[in-house]
Amino acid sequence: MILTETYILSNDVTIPKLGLGTWFIDDDKAAQAVRDAIEIGYRNIDTAQAYGNERGVGEGIRTSGVARDELFISTKLAAEIKDHDAATAAIDGSLTTLGLDYIDLMLIHAPQPWEDFRGGDYAEGNREAWRALEDAYKAGKVRSIGVSNFLQSDLENIAVTSTVTPHVNQLLVHAGNTPTELIAYCQDRGILVQAYSPIAHGAILDNPQVQAMAERYGVTVPQLCIRYTLQLGTQSLPKTANPDHMRANAQVDFEISEADMTALRDLNAADYGEHSVFPVYSGK
Ligand SMILES: NC(=O)c1ccc[n+]([C@@H]2O[C@H](COP(=O)([O-])OP(=O)(O)OC[C@H]3O[C@@H](n4cnc5c(N)ncnc54)[C@H](OP(=O)(O)O)[C@@H]3O)[C@@H](O)[C@H]2O)c1
Repeated sequence: MILTETYILSNDVTIPKLGLGTWFIDDDKAAQAVRDAIEIGYRNIDTAQAYGNERGVGEGIRTSGVARDELFISTKLAAEIKDHDAATAAIDGSLTTLGLDYIDLMLIHAPQPWEDFRGGDYAEGNREAWRALEDAYKAGKVRSIGVSNFLQSDLENIAVTSTVTPHVNQLLVHAGNTPTELIAYCQDRGILVQAYSPIAHGAILDNPQVQAMAERYGVTVPQLCIRYTLQLGTQSLPKTANPDHMRANAQVDFEISEADMTALRDLNAADYGEHSVFPVYSGK
């Protein structure tokens, strides 16, 4: 049962293999979504300062009836914050907004501010933001630290001055968008890859090729897509506020053949439709 399966991070912290993404869940709906997910058995919840729902997510955690130390809560430092003191203040801000004594995983959301995604020179700023995360880690405010949307060059940049190697790199990983080399680079260095948008932000639901394959396995497209990311050795983060979808997304105890894994990897890239405006889906 996937909900009870875990990976071990390089610092020996345990992280559940399946998590709940919360992007696009409004703050006033987030507490109920988190309680529903925890009731169903989810123990890993992913939010971010940028999602504007840390308050609701924190409320859901505190009112879930499950002990805090059985839950794994991640949040992300806003991509725009690239200096040490502002990052430190923002980490403390997340703790306050979530209403938690500690965070299980905190990530730098992106190597560049969103409006300059994959542009500019933020080398120094990323090293400063990373130093703030390292300080929070050493102070026990966060149990593990990582990055998101970091390319190999971004990882090499923070390695110049870091004392802690990122425990996690959260990346856009789904059938039709699999950064194979970057995943291997991270895995070789003990950096767990978290797969975000495993259902391509919904864009893959109508893909006839994926629909046909899902039918062959007797599963749904989201189940096939989530299983695909897990079989890559990544930690999967599907988003939904719908308890029926939460339950269905946890039914992934089947095996995708090697040939079908390759076919899913080589699928034509998804068209994200109206959501192509978001920098993460811009193909950069
Ligand atoms: N680090 C980053 O830069 C970054 C960027 C993007 C996302 N993320 C993280 O990754 C999480 C997931 O990514 P995502 O939100 O982009 O998209 P996703 O999980 O790939 O797809 C979500 C879409 O799939 C639908 N869906 C989910 N389960 C379903 C089911 N069983 N049946 C039918 N439809 C289903 C959802 O609709 P319903 O809500 O109606 O179920 C929603 O429209 C985010 O919430 C966030 O935590 C991180």
